[in-house]
Amino acid sequence: MKIIIDTPEGIAEQAAAIYKEILDEKPNAVLGFATGSTPLDLYAELINLYKAGEISFKDVTTFNLDEYVGLEPTHDQSYRYFMDTNLFNHIDLDPESVHIPSGIDTSADALAGYDQAIAEAGGVDMQLLGIGCNGHIGFNEPGTPLESLTHVVELTQNTREVNARFFDSLDDVPTHAATMGIKTVMNARKLLLIALGESKADAIKATVEGPVTADCPASVLQLHPDAIVFCDEAAASKLSL
Ligand code: GLP
Repeated sequence: MKIIIDTPEGIAEQAAAIYKEILDEKPNAVLGFATGSTPLDLYAELINLYKAGEISFKDVTTFNLDEYVGLEPTHDQSYRYFMDTNLFNHIDLDPESVHIPSGIDTSADALAGYDQAIAEAGGVDMQLLGIGCNGHIGFNEPGTPLESLTHVVELTQNTREVNARFFDSLDDVPTHAATMGIKTVMNARKLLLIALGESKADAIKATVEGPVTADCPASVLQLHPDAIVFCDEAAASKLSL
């Protein structure tokens, strides 16, 4: 695991440069994207690079980490809507190449089909990750088996409270989500996790310096051969580096 500490702006630039490297080498890369406020600067940077003619997503295939159960793709808090408005609508990505777990069809077939679609696309070249304050990745809450594939999870009260800021009220926050499993994430050839702010400091300490345990799902990144963790000073503040 490689730890890089920089300002939020510096992280967005460095991370965007990694996307450019990958796309220069493999224009039809398979990219795993994430939602949340953390990747917003990076997405703005990718849009800038695209508009400057430096990168193209024309031949890219994407797989997102997760989606709220019960939200239609058109719901303004669905992760599909988030990706469309913050990235996909601003680049030359083919809408047919976008994959996001369905929050409506969460049948066993649909969930298994997501992992199958990733495999058929040749696997994810690079998976972007944020991190929850409790160490969750995607929506894999503490206790999720490290061997899990795409599945439905019940969100913790804490995660629902943290995400309530995007909804009218806590009651409107879905109780469940469909998410890539920890194994699905670990199968990606490269992982890029970004953590910003003090609220992530405990989770980053456990991720980087704690034991590999389902109690902190992100700690599994210690076992990945090519994982980069970008932190700002605040998120890195509890590391003993
Ligand atoms: C949600 C998402 C995660 C994300 C996390 C942190 O729970 N499912 O993928 O990493 O929120 O969000 P933020 O970046 O807003 O702190």
